[in-house]
Amino acid sequence: MNKHNSLHVGWVIMAVSVMTVDAKEKKAVAPEGPLTTAPLYQEQYRPQFHFSSVTNWLNDPNGLVFYKGEYHLFFQHNPKGNVWGNMTWGHAVSPDLVHWTQLDPVIYPDKLGTIFSGSAVVDWKNTSGFGKDGQPPLVCIYTSFGQPATQSIAYSIDGRTFTKYEKNPVLGNVARGNRDPKVIWHEPSKQWVMILFVQSFDLFSSPNLKDWTPLQSKIECGRECPDIFPMPVDGDSKKIKWVVTAASGSYIIGEFDGKEFKAEVGPFPSHFGYAVQTFSDEPKGRRIQIGWLRGAKAPYPGMPFNQQMTVPAELTLKTTPSGLRLFRLPVKELEVLRGKVNTWTDRTIVPGTNLLSGLTHDLYDIEGEIQPGSSKEVGFTVRGKPVPLNFIDGRAKFRMLVDRITIELFEDDGAQTQAMIFMPDDKAPPLELFVTGGEARIVSLKVHELRSAWPVK
Ligand code: FRU
Repeated sequence: MNKHNSLHVGWVIMAVSVMTVDAKEKKAVAPEGPLTTAPLYQEQYRPQFHFSSVTNWLNDPNGLVFYKGEYHLFFQHNPKGNVWGNMTWGHAVSPDLVHWTQLDPVIYPDKLGTIFSGSAVVDWKNTSGFGKDGQPPLVCIYTSFGQPATQSIAYSIDGRTFTKYEKNPVLGNVARGNRDPKVIWHEPSKQWVMILFVQSFDLFSSPNLKDWTPLQSKIECGRECPDIFPMPVDGDSKKIKWVVTAASGSYIIGEFDGKEFKAEVGPFPSHFGYAVQTFSDEPKGRRIQIGWLRGAKAPYPGMPFNQQMTVPAELTLKTTPSGLRLFRLPVKELEVLRGKVNTWTDRTIVPGTNLLSGLTHDLYDIEGEIQPGSSKEVGFTVRGKPVPLNFIDGRAKFRMLVDRITIELFEDDGAQTQAMIFMPDDKAPPLELFVTGGEARIVSLKVHELRSAWPVK
């Protein structure tokens, strides 16, 4: 085991590692030690462009929706502690998917149970009757995780204060552990459709978000936090396929007519984060996904927060030699954080040198294309954390986002993605480019410095 690896043992887990359902799994003991006195968002291990809660624990992204000019990010939150528990919906808003403002939590536990994962929709036609003065309501659909677990709704017309529906639950217990309703409006059949985790995934329909009828059961894709959405094939809006995803990011592709989802291919694994969910009502019609970037259960030493989200990423569905596959790349908006850029083209790199030795910044957005040449391995070392690149079809074409304790790697135009959380070695250089076993050729490399997304500097 080398120096770098030994540093990470016990601390780093891949965000995509397999996890069981049982919520108890998320309980952990916080490490002893005083909290930092550093100002908010300037704490040593605070992600600078990945969302984390001001204080305390978060897990799944919930209720991702665009409403009245703002993106809303609700999230599984423990308002009372830095470990999983007291599940409540935390809340943040953003004008641009990059700069988030955290607001007060909005949906608290009640006699029906704690508030587990779910989704949000804009009820444009006011089918629910919750609208006011011609304004469409924002409706959140969540799991009341009591005995038994049922599905409930809450609504808002200002995107700030939320009222629970007085006749909750709107869907009774289907089977033990049922949870994580994701609701969409299906325009061709003019109805709401809910996909729910019930051992596998079940579908329900509703005219008004209050009365739900079973449509289909046993869609086999994976466990927890299902999502269902249409995708244009190769950008052609006349060629639509439907995608179902599970919490792990695994997905199946097929057809959906408002009654039945017919799987055609998959499940395919993916590494998009955990409990992935896509935005409802995205104004540009993009399919944007956020996942929980699940880290070690204990908080980083001295940190008032625990856990973070992936960056928002745009999904596309493309034809590949192996068939249809989802691709995933960071949303364009993140480029607003870019500052100074260093560019290299057509350069040979040899073992023992570090082209990036002059760089001193801590946050980066790196784009590049490298040919392996005679080398054995090419990659980056980020503050001691090695990240080898994959060569696909004779090249490594990649985008890599480097945050304080987070690295997201998008390879082959987003065909493959990885998210990593690591414990930085403060004595190591901020960024190194390494090559072993021979020479490699940089076709192009752009290293953008990034600014923090928080109002800190
Ligand atoms: C996924 C999950 C969901 C559940 C939530 C509870 O991480 O287990 O199934 O709703 O977390 O926090």
